[in-house]
Amino acid sequence: MTFVRIMGMGYYLPKKVVTNDDLSKCVDTSDEWIRTRTGIVQRHIAANNEACSDLALQAAKQALTNANIAPEAIDLLIVATVTSDMQFPSTAAILQAKLGLRTIMAFDINAACSGFVYALDVARHFLTNGVYRYALVIGSDKLSAIVNWKDRNTCVLFGDGAGACVLGQSDTNAHCVVDGFLGADGSNPDWLCIPAGGSLQPATATTVANHLHFVSMNGREVFKVAVRRMMEAVRGVLERQKLTIADIQWIVPHQANLRIIQALADELGFPMDRMICNIDQTGNTSAASIPVALAQAEAAGRFHPGERILLVAFGGGLTWGASLIQY
Ligand code: ACO
Repeated sequence: MTFVRIMGMGYYLPKKVVTNDDLSKCVDTSDEWIRTRTGIVQRHIAANNEACSDLALQAAKQALTNANIAPEAIDLLIVATVTSDMQFPSTAAILQAKLGLRTIMAFDINAACSGFVYALDVARHFLTNGVYRYALVIGSDKLSAIVNWKDRNTCVLFGDGAGACVLGQSDTNAHCVVDGFLGADGSNPDWLCIPAGGSLQPATATTVANHLHFVSMNGREVFKVAVRRMMEAVRGVLERQKLTIADIQWIVPHQANLRIIQALADELGFPMDRMICNIDQTGNTSAASIPVALAQAEAAGRFHPGERILLVAFGGGLTWGASLIQY
């Protein structure tokens, strides 16, 4: 049997840090409101000349170094993002050249904040089937490029970053991605979207004037559905693996809102101190959120051999998913 091992991880957060107090000088908000409603204290914001592929490049280089794998060995590249450098080509194609990879299959996945969990599972299947030996999977997003910095409902929530992992075929189940459970429901696409700039509403002077190229979000509806869908993903993967929540040592949830993470822990009966949280430092970095938190926790030595880690996400679409890792 072929297992799919996480060989190395990496992450990148841009240098510039913007605090809640900084934001309160631009929009009608306060550190107190942002902290108590979301758990966010600060976020990293990319430089003007740093695109999504540049964030991804830094995270990918670190993951390759940690995996001790040469770029030429990579057979498959997947980038999860909603902030591609350009509408097309894909960020993965651009990154393939920047990293000096062979002319391998490279594509983006658009599943918003669930993107990394989606990408991980797609790569897992390619490796399990024996089609490819090594894959590079990245979640990278520059949300600062698509939020309206005058809209307090959204601009306080997001940040920029990238997280990457190198996957490789393995004979043993240590450090492995065991399973994934994914879902989507597109019946309310407007709950979380960029309304214009696509084929439905191409860019015009009017769409720009009406701010339709920025993130639009129905925060209350997303909040309500988030916990239910993440529960569904967790239960789905646990049932398939014939496990219970007592068999899980760590959860790495999507970092959208600390209250959502706490509600998930309560529903699952899972201790909060075993939920990996970095939202206070990063805000919501969309597809980068889970791989950054995972890579940071690993670098800090929080995981031990034999432990089981669940990644669980929800995002625009709506999409959701969970991945089970055997450390
Ligand atoms: N500062 C001060 N006041 C604010 C701010 C702000 N930054 N933002 C909103 N408010 C106000 C609102 O205008 C509202 O005022 P009103 O009652 O006078 O109308 C009040 O605060 C309360 O607003 P609510 O929407 O009820 O606040 P809530 O407690 O629901 O928190 C939040 C809002 C943080 C957005 C929450 O709903 C949430 O986290 N939702 C989920 C968001 C999410 O997870 N998005 C996922 C994105 S993932 C992806 O795919 C990109």
